[in-house]
Amino acid sequence: MMWVVVGVMSAVAAHASTPNGDPEAGARKNALCIGCHGIVGFKTGFPEVYRVPKLHGQNAQYIANALSAYKRGERSHPSMRAIAESLTEQDMADLGAYFESAVSDAPPRPRRSSPDAMPGKSLVDRGGCQACHGANFTKPLDGSYPKLAGQNRDYLYVALRAYKAGGNPRKQQWIGRTNPVMQAMTSQFSDEQLQAIADYLASLPGSLATLQRSGLH
Ligand code: HEC
Ligand code: HEC
Repeated sequence: MMWVVVGVMSAVAAHASTPNGDPEAGARKNALCIGCHGIVGFKTGFPEVYRVPKLHGQNAQYIANALSAYKRGERSHPSMRAIAESLTEQDMADLGAYFESAVSDAPPRPRRSSPDAMPGKSLVDRGGCQACHGANFTKPLDGSYPKLAGQNRDYLYVALRAYKAGGNPRKQQWIGRTNPVMQAMTSQFSDEQLQAIADYLASLPGSLATLQRSGLH
């Protein structure tokens, strides 16, 4: 059982080196982000036209991890990469804390009356996605995993294909993400199935939102 103890200790050490986020500092740093993530329905044009992800209500640790992945090039989207390159670890932690704390007052509602009747439901059951992303895709295993319920469907579809493309430049007719877990998860599905999964996840009720103005200034 020695390895379990070592594993736990190195996880503790990894957390200890992560700076604590300050949501008020993050709210000020959000000025850099508002032009895209503070406008409901804002679309990017690359690698195709899709709505940028909703960040308000997302887990702080996941946001900081994602920013760091853009900075390291593990996520290759060029505009996010350029932005993340200008951020320190402290900035990433502050921004994560801000977005996690800035939640919408509106109660979560499903986009459809019965999402569980959609074809994507049986695909996520088959993939075992809830094991990490949580029942209902609103409460992941811990804060390092993203909430998925109610995320923009066109963004989810791009993100899933980016994991499937991975780091293989020949497959990069869109932008790749090299996370090995999600690459394995997505490579078992066709693009049509990934679209069905994105449709299903987007239609679930969740707390993710795009807030046009923050209450913190
Ligand atoms: C020019 C528009 C633009 C600006 C400005 C911008 N973003 Fe983004 N952001 C995007 C796009 C486009 C994506 C999706 C990229 C992809 O497909 O990987 C994204 C993705 C993200 C993600 C990944 C979310 C997820 O669910 O995985 C995070 C986190 C993020 N942005 C944070 C920020 C922060 C924090 C700022 C300000 C410091 C910022 N962004 C500024 C366009 C922008
Ligand atoms: C073993 C744990 C695990 C399982 C199982 C898993 N995921 Fe993930 N998922 C992750 C991690 C970790 C990330 C963040 C990766 C990164 O840093 O980009 C992630 C990210 C994602 C994202 C990106 C969200 C965003 O905002 O960009 C989507 C979409 C996603 N997963 C969907 C799925 C689907 C669909 C399945 C089932 C087919 C699945 N995941 C199974 C761990 C998992």
